[in-house]
Amino acid sequence: MEQVDMKKIFIETYGCQMNFSDSEIVGSILSDNNYLITTDINEADCILINTCAIREGAEQRIRKRLKELKALRRNKPWFKVGVLGCMAERLKEQLMEEEDNVNLVAGPDAYRTLPELLKQVETGAKAANVLLSEEETYAEIDPVRLGSNGISAFISIMRGCENFCAYCVVPYTRGRERSRDPKTIVNEAKRLFENGYKEVTLLGQNVNSYHWTDDDGNIVDFPELMKQVAEIDPTLRVRYSTSHPKDLSDKLLEVMSSYDNICKCIHLPVQSGSNRMLKLMNRKYTVEWYLDRIAAIRRYMPDCAITTDVIAGFCGETLEDHEQTLSLFKQVGYDYAFMFKYSMRPNTYAHKRLTDDVSEEEKTRRLEEIIALQGELSLTSYQKDLGKTFEVLIEGTSKRNKEQLFGRNSQNKVIVFDGNGHKPGEYVKVKVLKCTSATLIGELV
Ligand code: 5AD
Ligand code: SF4
Repeated sequence: MEQVDMKKIFIETYGCQMNFSDSEIVGSILSDNNYLITTDINEADCILINTCAIREGAEQRIRKRLKELKALRRNKPWFKVGVLGCMAERLKEQLMEEEDNVNLVAGPDAYRTLPELLKQVETGAKAANVLLSEEETYAEIDPVRLGSNGISAFISIMRGCENFCAYCVVPYTRGRERSRDPKTIVNEAKRLFENGYKEVTLLGQNVNSYHWTDDDGNIVDFPELMKQVAEIDPTLRVRYSTSHPKDLSDKLLEVMSSYDNICKCIHLPVQSGSNRMLKLMNRKYTVEWYLDRIAAIRRYMPDCAITTDVIAGFCGETLEDHEQTLSLFKQVGYDYAFMFKYSMRPNTYAHKRLTDDVSEEEKTRRLEEIIALQGELSLTSYQKDLGKTFEVLIEGTSKRNKEQLFGRNSQNKVIVFDGNGHKPGEYVKVKVLKCTSATLIGELV
């Protein structure tokens, strides 16, 4: 059997922020085991692809990438390919059998075993571990910051999801919900701040159900955790994602409103504006409940941006259901939205019990209608900022014009402005002069 010494690993990440955060944990585990993380695929001995399974399109993209990678092997016969993440978990051995190119498969809770799996692969064997865990949170692992701007970083605070929305594959690929020890979270945020970072985003599939009981019986819930992170330093911005509308609490809104460094932006995925659809989707809230939460956000923080996720053409969606989604969008006036066509995922409740009966053309038509409407709503939202002055955290130089800098305001909107010698990582005040539906353009004040 061939025996190769694989030392240089290239990590490629697809999908959500959680995946990017996981790749940084993988990077840390491998660095601790004498592997070198390279950013140049041409000098790598192995590629680990961290995959997404949320929609069929995401998986097709990975399949295509796996085919492309075969070419790399022509000049480098020892080159190995590993598949990590949600698609690895969902397809398990099937991936190794179907794709002659795949040497290693590891699910989201199996990353501590990657050094062993890689050793196995080095002997020429294939290796897999897709066991899900009820405890793994990678709590004490200090992630290596891959592709970071040195200013903002993700911190994973919990893993898994138990909401079982009818369309969603995540509960199956990421397993049971579990929270990470708050001390390790606060320490990670402190270390980042000491290393010059100015913004952290706390990540979980459903951060509102974050829950930790320490040895003395003290309970830390999500609002309390936010407080602890916000109190590290007033110049450390804190964001989070994602909260589920069913349990967005007033307590959290109150904490958000009482700290200037907690960013005023809430991502509140609605998925549909029809109560009938919400019920079929198993979302556990109604349109009325959702609107009540929106009203609560506006009450506590009139300047808070609100963004959402929506799915067009879920099982049994009628024109009337779709119209209700459009109407809800107008009522809320989202600042931004992630909009998707329903994509049936094997083994979900919707796959087993419902019928994917909206035609592809009709899904596309409805999606385009939502996109067009959101375009107008975004423009309205950005136009409302004309003349306002915001505190902006500078993230870098504008791609179009090197004289210009860009950053974000608390509401997470990108602002471009003439730099005048300021540098990434600094806070500046910028007055908005112009806008498009995706960018504010301003000047330093
Ligand atoms: N089809 C389309 N969109 C989906 N999402 C989750 N599962 C599916 C699916 N099967 C969307 C939801 C979720 C976002 C991350 O992805 O809107 O909030
Ligand atoms: Fe999927 Fe629903 Fe969990 Fe979000 S809350 S990850 S949509 S099951």
